[in-house]
Amino acid sequence: MRLRLRNIFLVYFVVSSVGLMYALLQIGQPCDCKGTNAHGRIQHSVVKGHRDLPEDDHLPVIYVVTPTYARPHQRAELTRLSQTLLLIPSLHWILVEDSAERSKSVADLLAQSGLHYTHLNVQTPPVMKLKDSDPNWLKPRGVEQRNEALRWLKLNKSPKDFGVVYFADDDNTYSVRIFQEMRYTQKVSVWPVGLVGGLRYEGPRVEKGHVIGFHTAWKPHRPFPIDMAGFAVSLSLLLSHPEARFDPNAERGFLESSLLGQLVSIGDLEPRAHNCTKVWVWHTRTEKPKLKQEEILEKQGRGSDLNIQV
Ligand SMILES: *[C@@H]1O[C@H](CO)[C@@H](O)[C@H](O)[C@H]1NC(C)=O
Repeated sequence: MRLRLRNIFLVYFVVSSVGLMYALLQIGQPCDCKGTNAHGRIQHSVVKGHRDLPEDDHLPVIYVVTPTYARPHQRAELTRLSQTLLLIPSLHWILVEDSAERSKSVADLLAQSGLHYTHLNVQTPPVMKLKDSDPNWLKPRGVEQRNEALRWLKLNKSPKDFGVVYFADDDNTYSVRIFQEMRYTQKVSVWPVGLVGGLRYEGPRVEKGHVIGFHTAWKPHRPFPIDMAGFAVSLSLLLSHPEARFDPNAERGFLESSLLGQLVSIGDLEPRAHNCTKVWVWHTRTEKPKLKQEEILEKQGRGSDLNIQV
Protein backbone atom coordinates (compact mmCIF):
# COMPACT_ATOMS: atom_id res chain seq x y z
CA MET A 1 0.00 0.00 0.00
CA ARG A 2 2.82 2.39 1.00
CA LEU A 3 4.53 1.52 -2.30
CA ARG A 4 1.38 2.24 -4.36
CA LEU A 5 0.94 5.66 -2.73
CA ARG A 6 4.57 6.53 -3.41
CA ASN A 7 4.24 5.56 -7.08
CA ILE A 8 1.10 7.69 -7.46
CA PHE A 9 2.91 10.63 -5.86
CA LEU A 10 5.92 10.14 -8.18
CA VAL A 11 3.73 10.11 -11.30
CA TYR A 12 1.89 13.24 -10.06
CA PHE A 13 5.23 14.98 -9.42
CA VAL A 14 6.64 14.19 -12.88
CA VAL A 15 3.45 15.24 -14.73
CA SER A 16 3.18 18.58 -12.92
CA SER A 17 6.90 19.35 -13.42
CA VAL A 18 6.60 18.75 -17.17
CA GLY A 19 3.53 21.02 -17.26
CA LEU A 20 5.37 23.79 -15.43
CA MET A 21 8.40 23.48 -17.73
CA TYR A 22 6.17 23.73 -20.80
CA ALA A 23 4.42 26.83 -19.43
CA LEU A 24 7.79 28.49 -18.69
CA LEU A 25 9.05 27.76 -22.22
CA GLN A 26 5.97 29.39 -23.73
CA ILE A 27 6.61 32.69 -21.93
CA GLY A 28 9.56 33.63 -24.16
CA GLN A 29 7.78 32.83 -27.45
CA PRO A 30 6.73 35.58 -29.89
CA CYS A 31 3.05 36.39 -29.71
CA ASP A 32 1.26 37.48 -32.84
CA CYS A 33 -0.64 40.22 -31.10
CA LYS A 34 -2.14 42.53 -33.69
CA GLY A 35 -3.66 45.95 -33.20
CA THR A 36 -5.27 48.52 -35.42
CA ASN A 37 -4.16 52.14 -35.60
CA ALA A 38 -6.22 55.24 -36.24
CA HIS A 39 -5.89 54.72 -40.00
CA GLY A 40 -7.64 51.40 -39.58
CA ARG A 41 -4.59 49.47 -40.68
CA ILE A 42 -3.76 46.19 -39.11
CA GLN A 43 -0.39 46.30 -37.44
CA HIS A 44 1.86 43.72 -36.02
CA SER A 45 2.62 46.06 -33.20
CA VAL A 46 4.53 44.47 -30.42
CA VAL A 47 6.18 41.14 -30.95
CA LYS A 48 8.26 40.01 -28.04
CA GLY A 49 11.69 38.90 -29.09
CA HIS A 50 13.93 36.55 -27.20
CA ARG A 51 16.44 39.33 -26.51
CA ASP A 52 14.00 41.25 -24.35
CA LEU A 53 15.01 40.41 -20.85
CA PRO A 54 13.15 41.82 -17.85
CA GLU A 55 16.19 43.83 -16.72
CA ASP A 56 15.94 45.95 -19.90
CA ASP A 57 12.59 47.36 -18.83
CA HIS A 58 14.08 50.48 -17.25
CA LEU A 59 16.04 51.47 -20.39
CA PRO A 60 14.67 54.18 -22.70
CA VAL A 61 13.42 52.47 -25.88
CA ILE A 62 15.33 53.08 -29.11
CA TYR A 63 12.80 53.46 -31.96
CA VAL A 64 14.66 52.66 -35.16
CA VAL A 65 12.82 54.01 -38.22
CA THR A 66 13.74 52.31 -41.49
CA PRO A 67 12.20 53.21 -44.85
CA THR A 68 12.49 50.35 -47.33
CA TYR A 69 11.39 49.45 -50.86
CA ALA A 70 11.19 46.27 -52.94
CA ARG A 71 14.34 45.41 -54.90
CA PRO A 72 16.34 42.25 -55.56
CA HIS A 73 18.63 42.70 -52.52
CA GLN A 74 15.98 43.99 -50.07
CA ARG A 75 15.86 40.83 -47.97
CA ALA A 76 19.64 40.74 -47.76
CA GLU A 77 19.78 44.33 -46.47
CA LEU A 78 16.94 43.85 -44.00
CA THR A 79 18.43 40.60 -42.70
CA ARG A 80 21.79 42.27 -42.10
CA LEU A 81 20.22 45.25 -40.33
CA SER A 82 17.77 43.17 -38.27
CA GLN A 83 20.56 40.98 -36.97
CA THR A 84 22.53 44.03 -35.87
CA LEU A 85 19.42 45.32 -34.10
CA LEU A 86 19.04 41.97 -32.28
CA LEU A 87 22.19 42.85 -30.36
CA ILE A 88 20.56 45.97 -28.89
CA PRO A 89 18.33 45.70 -25.79
CA SER A 90 15.09 47.67 -25.49
CA LEU A 91 14.67 48.44 -29.17
CA HIS A 92 11.57 48.78 -31.36
CA TRP A 93 11.97 48.62 -35.13
CA ILE A 94 9.52 50.67 -37.21
CA LEU A 95 9.85 49.41 -40.76
CA VAL A 96 7.97 51.43 -43.39
CA GLU A 97 7.56 50.06 -46.89
CA ASP A 98 7.26 52.32 -49.92
CA SER A 99 4.35 50.36 -51.35
CA ALA A 100 0.57 50.35 -51.70
CA GLU A 101 0.39 47.28 -49.46
CA ARG A 102 2.61 45.64 -46.90
CA SER A 103 4.41 42.79 -48.63
CA LYS A 104 4.39 39.20 -47.43
CA SER A 105 8.15 39.02 -47.93
CA VAL A 106 8.82 41.80 -45.43
CA ALA A 107 6.07 40.62 -43.05
CA ASP A 108 7.64 37.14 -42.95
CA LEU A 109 11.09 38.57 -42.35
CA LEU A 110 9.83 40.70 -39.47
CA ALA A 111 7.85 37.86 -37.91
CA GLN A 112 11.00 35.73 -37.83
CA SER A 113 13.33 38.52 -36.74
CA GLY A 114 12.91 38.12 -32.98
CA LEU A 115 12.61 41.92 -32.67
CA HIS A 116 9.89 44.19 -31.30
CA TYR A 117 8.52 45.81 -34.45
CA THR A 118 5.82 47.74 -36.20
CA HIS A 119 5.24 47.16 -39.90
CA LEU A 120 3.84 50.14 -41.80
CA ASN A 121 3.54 51.15 -45.44
CA VAL A 122 2.89 54.28 -47.46
CA GLN A 123 3.45 54.79 -51.15
CA THR A 124 5.52 57.72 -52.39
CA PRO A 125 3.31 59.80 -54.75
CA PRO A 126 4.33 59.07 -58.39
CA VAL A 127 5.40 62.71 -59.03
CA MET A 128 7.94 62.45 -56.22
CA LYS A 129 9.29 59.08 -57.26
CA LEU A 130 12.66 58.47 -58.87
CA LYS A 131 12.59 56.96 -62.35
CA ASP A 132 14.98 54.10 -63.12
CA SER A 133 17.00 56.47 -65.29
CA ASP A 134 17.29 59.16 -62.58
CA PRO A 135 20.44 59.34 -60.48
CA ASN A 136 19.56 58.32 -56.91
CA TRP A 137 20.37 61.76 -55.50
CA LEU A 138 17.83 63.61 -57.68
CA LYS A 139 14.98 63.47 -55.16
CA PRO A 140 15.07 62.71 -51.47
CA ARG A 141 14.06 59.13 -50.75
CA GLY A 142 12.03 57.67 -47.92
CA VAL A 143 10.48 60.99 -46.91
CA GLU A 144 6.84 59.87 -46.80
CA GLN A 145 7.90 56.68 -45.03
CA ARG A 146 9.84 58.47 -42.27
CA ASN A 147 6.93 60.88 -41.82
CA GLU A 148 4.53 57.93 -41.55
CA ALA A 149 6.67 56.60 -38.69
CA LEU A 150 6.51 60.02 -37.00
CA ARG A 151 2.70 59.91 -37.32
CA TRP A 152 2.65 56.42 -35.78
CA LEU A 153 4.78 57.55 -32.85
CA LYS A 154 2.51 60.52 -32.25
CA LEU A 155 -0.60 58.30 -32.25
CA ASN A 156 0.83 55.45 -30.20
CA LYS A 157 3.28 56.97 -27.72
CA SER A 158 2.89 59.50 -24.94
CA PRO A 159 5.42 61.86 -23.35
CA LYS A 160 5.59 59.38 -20.47
CA ASP A 161 7.26 56.82 -22.76
CA PHE A 162 11.00 57.43 -22.50
CA GLY A 163 12.75 56.85 -25.76
CA VAL A 164 14.82 58.07 -28.65
CA VAL A 165 14.14 57.97 -32.40
CA TYR A 166 16.84 57.06 -34.94
CA PHE A 167 16.42 57.08 -38.73
CA ALA A 168 18.40 54.08 -39.93
CA ASP A 169 18.42 53.32 -43.66
CA ASP A 170 18.64 49.66 -44.57
CA ASP A 171 21.94 49.86 -46.47
CA ASN A 172 24.18 51.55 -43.89
CA THR A 173 26.54 49.73 -41.55
CA TYR A 174 26.04 50.20 -37.80
CA SER A 175 28.25 49.39 -34.84
CA VAL A 176 26.40 48.44 -31.67
CA ARG A 177 28.34 51.32 -30.07
CA ILE A 178 26.26 53.95 -31.85
CA PHE A 179 23.05 52.65 -30.25
CA GLN A 180 24.66 52.81 -26.81
CA GLU A 181 25.64 56.42 -27.49
CA MET A 182 22.16 57.59 -28.49
CA ARG A 183 20.06 55.93 -25.77
CA TYR A 184 20.10 58.82 -23.26
CA THR A 185 19.44 61.68 -25.67
CA GLN A 186 17.94 64.80 -24.06
CA LYS A 187 17.01 66.63 -27.27
CA VAL A 188 19.14 65.74 -30.29
CA SER A 189 22.41 63.81 -30.13
CA VAL A 190 24.94 63.89 -32.98
CA TRP A 191 28.07 62.03 -34.14
CA PRO A 192 30.19 61.57 -37.27
CA VAL A 193 29.17 59.34 -40.18
CA GLY A 194 31.83 57.55 -42.22
CA LEU A 195 32.12 57.51 -46.02
CA VAL A 196 29.63 60.26 -46.79
CA GLY A 197 29.54 63.61 -48.61
CA GLY A 198 32.59 62.67 -50.67
CA LEU A 199 34.73 62.59 -47.51
CA ARG A 200 36.22 59.93 -45.26
CA TYR A 201 33.70 61.17 -42.72
CA GLU A 202 31.33 64.08 -42.10
CA GLY A 203 30.55 65.20 -38.57
CA PRO A 204 30.11 67.92 -35.98
CA ARG A 205 33.15 69.90 -34.86
CA VAL A 206 33.25 69.98 -31.07
CA GLU A 207 35.03 72.30 -28.68
CA LYS A 208 34.82 72.08 -24.90
CA GLY A 209 31.98 69.59 -25.23
CA HIS A 210 29.86 71.81 -27.50
CA VAL A 211 29.11 71.64 -31.21
CA ILE A 212 30.66 74.71 -32.84
CA GLY A 213 30.33 73.75 -36.51
CA PHE A 214 30.56 70.89 -38.97
CA HIS A 215 33.24 69.10 -40.93
CA THR A 216 31.70 68.92 -44.39
CA ALA A 217 32.67 69.84 -47.93
CA TRP A 218 29.31 69.67 -49.70
CA LYS A 219 26.82 72.54 -49.32
CA PRO A 220 28.36 73.70 -46.04
CA HIS A 221 25.72 76.45 -45.81
CA ARG A 222 23.08 73.85 -44.94
CA PRO A 223 21.60 74.70 -41.49
CA PHE A 224 22.34 71.16 -40.25
CA PRO A 225 24.87 69.52 -42.59
CA ILE A 226 24.31 66.15 -40.92
CA ASP A 227 23.57 62.83 -42.60
CA MET A 228 20.35 61.00 -41.67
CA ALA A 229 22.46 58.41 -39.83
CA GLY A 230 24.29 61.07 -37.80
CA PHE A 231 21.67 62.09 -35.26
CA ALA A 232 18.93 60.82 -32.94
CA VAL A 233 15.97 62.73 -31.50
CA SER A 234 14.41 62.18 -28.09
CA LEU A 235 10.85 60.91 -28.24
CA SER A 236 9.63 63.58 -25.83
CA LEU A 237 11.05 66.38 -28.01
CA LEU A 238 9.29 64.93 -31.07
CA LEU A 239 6.01 64.51 -29.21
CA SER A 240 6.20 68.09 -27.95
CA HIS A 241 6.43 69.20 -31.63
CA PRO A 242 3.61 67.07 -33.05
CA GLU A 243 3.68 68.84 -36.42
CA ALA A 244 7.41 68.35 -36.99
CA ARG A 245 8.00 66.48 -40.27
CA PHE A 246 10.55 65.97 -43.03
CA ASP A 247 9.77 68.31 -45.94
CA PRO A 248 9.11 66.27 -49.13
CA ASN A 249 10.04 69.35 -51.19
CA ALA A 250 13.33 70.01 -49.41
CA GLU A 251 16.23 70.78 -51.71
CA ARG A 252 18.73 67.98 -52.11
CA GLY A 253 20.82 67.70 -48.93
CA PHE A 254 18.37 69.76 -46.87
CA LEU A 255 16.07 66.95 -45.73
CA GLU A 256 17.74 66.48 -42.34
CA SER A 257 17.76 70.26 -41.82
CA SER A 258 14.03 70.43 -42.64
CA LEU A 259 13.23 68.31 -39.55
CA LEU A 260 16.00 69.43 -37.19
CA GLY A 261 15.29 73.12 -37.87
CA GLN A 262 11.83 72.63 -36.33
CA LEU A 263 13.27 71.04 -33.19
CA VAL A 264 16.60 72.51 -32.10
CA SER A 265 19.35 75.03 -32.71
CA ILE A 266 23.04 74.16 -33.09
CA GLY A 267 23.73 74.98 -29.44
CA ASP A 268 21.27 72.29 -28.30
CA LEU A 269 23.09 69.46 -30.09
CA GLU A 270 24.59 66.84 -27.78
CA PRO A 271 27.91 65.53 -29.14
CA ARG A 272 28.40 61.76 -28.72
CA ALA A 273 31.01 59.20 -29.79
CA HIS A 274 33.86 60.68 -27.69
CA ASN A 275 33.07 64.30 -28.60
CA CYS A 276 32.52 63.26 -32.22
CA THR A 277 35.95 61.70 -32.66
CA LYS A 278 34.75 58.13 -33.30
CA VAL A 279 33.04 56.76 -36.41
CA TRP A 280 30.54 54.07 -35.46
CA VAL A 281 28.20 54.27 -38.45
CA TRP A 282 29.06 54.17 -42.14
CA HIS A 283 27.09 55.33 -45.15
CA THR A 284 27.78 52.16 -47.12
CA ARG A 285 25.98 51.34 -50.36
CA THR A 286 25.22 48.00 -51.88
CA GLU A 287 26.07 47.44 -55.50
CA LYS A 288 23.01 46.81 -57.66
CA PRO A 289 22.87 43.06 -58.36
CA LYS A 290 23.34 42.06 -61.99
CA LEU A 291 20.53 39.74 -63.10
CA LYS A 292 21.20 39.55 -66.83
CA GLN A 293 21.24 35.75 -66.95
CA GLU A 294 17.96 35.69 -65.03
CA GLU A 295 16.30 37.83 -67.70
CA ILE A 296 17.64 35.55 -70.46
CA LEU A 297 16.33 32.43 -68.73
CA GLU A 298 12.98 34.10 -68.00
CA LYS A 299 12.53 34.77 -71.73
CA GLN A 300 13.09 31.06 -72.33
CA GLY A 301 10.49 30.26 -69.67
CA ARG A 302 12.97 28.65 -67.31
CA GLY A 303 13.77 31.46 -64.85
CA SER A 304 14.56 30.81 -61.20
CA ASP A 305 11.77 29.35 -59.01
CA LEU A 306 9.66 32.33 -57.86
CA ASN A 307 8.51 30.34 -54.81
CA ILE A 308 12.03 30.63 -53.44
CA GLN A 309 12.38 33.95 -51.60
CA VAL A 310 15.72 35.63 -52.17
C1 LIG B 1 34.37 65.82 -24.19
O1 LIG B 1 34.88 67.10 -23.93
C2 LIG B 1 34.58 67.61 -22.64
C3 LIG B 1 35.05 69.06 -22.58
O2 LIG B 1 36.34 69.21 -23.10
C4 LIG B 1 35.25 66.73 -21.60
O3 LIG B 1 34.95 67.20 -20.29
C5 LIG B 1 34.73 65.31 -21.76
O4 LIG B 1 35.39 64.45 -20.87
C6 LIG B 1 34.91 64.82 -23.18
N1 LIG B 1 34.23 63.55 -23.31
C7 LIG B 1 34.80 62.44 -23.82
C8 LIG B 1 33.99 61.21 -23.80
O5 LIG B 1 35.92 62.43 -24.26
